[in-house]
Amino acid sequence: MSELKGNQFEGKGDYVKDVFSDIAPYYDRMNDVMSIGMIKRWHRFMFKKAGPIEGFEVLDVGTGTGEIAFMSARKVGPGGKVTGLDITPGMLAMAERKMGTLDLPREVEFVVGDALDLPYEDSSFDLVTSGYMLRNVTDIPLALSEMRRVLKPGHRAVLAELAKPKNRIALWGYNLYMGKVIPWLGRRRDKGKVIDGVMPAYDWLTSSIEGFPHGDDMVELLLEAGFSEARYHSRSLGAVNIYVAVK
Ligand SMILES: C[S@@+](CC[C@H](N)C(=O)[O-])C[C@H]1O[C@@H](n2cnc3c(N)ncnc32)[C@H](O)[C@@H]1O
Repeated sequence: MSELKGNQFEGKGDYVKDVFSDIAPYYDRMNDVMSIGMIKRWHRFMFKKAGPIEGFEVLDVGTGTGEIAFMSARKVGPGGKVTGLDITPGMLAMAERKMGTLDLPREVEFVVGDALDLPYEDSSFDLVTSGYMLRNVTDIPLALSEMRRVLKPGHRAVLAELAKPKNRIALWGYNLYMGKVIPWLGRRRDKGKVIDGVMPAYDWLTSSIEGFPHGDDMVELLLEAGFSEARYHSRSLGAVNIYVAVK
């Protein structure tokens, strides 16, 4: 692999797409196992921070298998509209398949697209959400400024991202879990298959957090991207941050 700068390296865009194409069929199951069932709680917290959204037009960037978009669809109700955008068609295929089993007030529209060049006019959405995508993009500031651009003024972006606990004991447990348990769980699924000569899919999950800005550093990037307010809430002893930014 070429040199890591932050969590960026040459060829990352293609590598990330190939990783998610490979793991799409078992992505949801692994998320539940790895987050020890916490992921739905984090998503509920995101919507608590989004405030009332009935009737809203919502964009979920890096929607993957659509979990956050489906939660949004239930909350916006039949008068709202939710779009889930992702760069990996295989992840969206899983989202579409799952949607067929759900009873939603209105279907989510899934769109193949790039977070770095959102195919929408300025000020199109009442809420932008994104979960665990930013570590995967090749230009974090550009992704943030695209999210801000498509938001209506006065409206919010609510983002969930992995982080590292600050407390020393929590950090010890976290390092053990991310450094040993996750790679072991990952091996059971990805069989250690090295993708694009870079690394196995679930090694990327741990590696992508290294050098990835979180907490105050991410808040600074949100403000630099032009959001007028930004703050974060730590969950699960600091393993996940929910960022709320206002345009
Ligand atoms: C860790 S998954 C998160 C999926 C989903 N948000 C969730 O909560 O489970 C990251 C997703 O970001 C997508 N992604 C990565 N880079 C992207 C980009 N430049 N534009 C859009 N989606 C991207 C990947 O295809 C993948 O589906």
